[in-house]
Amino acid sequence: MSADVDQGRRRLLVTATALTGAVGAGFALTPFVASWEPSARAKALGAPIEIDISKLEPGAMLKVEWRGKPVWVLRRTPEMLKEVDQAKPFLLDPESLGSVQPAYAKNETRALKPEYFVVLGVCTHLGCSPMEKFQPGDVTVSADWPGGFYCPCHGSKFDLAGRVWKSVPAPSNLTVPPYSFVSDRRIVVGTDATHAA
Ligand code: FES
Repeated sequence: MSADVDQGRRRLLVTATALTGAVGAGFALTPFVASWEPSARAKALGAPIEIDISKLEPGAMLKVEWRGKPVWVLRRTPEMLKEVDQAKPFLLDPESLGSVQPAYAKNETRALKPEYFVVLGVCTHLGCSPMEKFQPGDVTVSADWPGGFYCPCHGSKFDLAGRVWKSVPAPSNLTVPPYSFVSDRRIVVGTDATHAA
């Protein structure tokens, strides 16, 4: 009799433990699903993206996609920055007064840190994606254009700060998206920097 009672208690305890485990698993799963769903939704809506720039060599450019558009991160060399400095007389909007960029990128290099140029790779004429040209003397560039970004659709030229050359179809400089540095090696595109670096 006593053995039967013990067996009954044991079964009850096992059942109760299994139920508790199932409920526990249910509670454990709920926050995971809840935290995953908004992330997926946010991603579809174009949430900020984080870019690792730790392996980006001087002179090289990294391309990613944000909100369905190409975003380029160019690591400019001192020579490239010199070209940016010298391009001013040839530019339509050298001060970026009629162009789109965050306030912290409304400067000559159009960047938070001059070394890293973050820009949307979309031509401001009719929306083609300009090819990048860094080398002077390239067959597709004229002698008075030291290089930068070139849109093959109708021949618009931009300097290495995305500033549009005079007398080309594009009416304004390439657009700089909101971005910030979360560390020396990582950039987030889609959230504004709270202060200039
Ligand atoms: S779309 Fe780039 S020049 Fe026309």
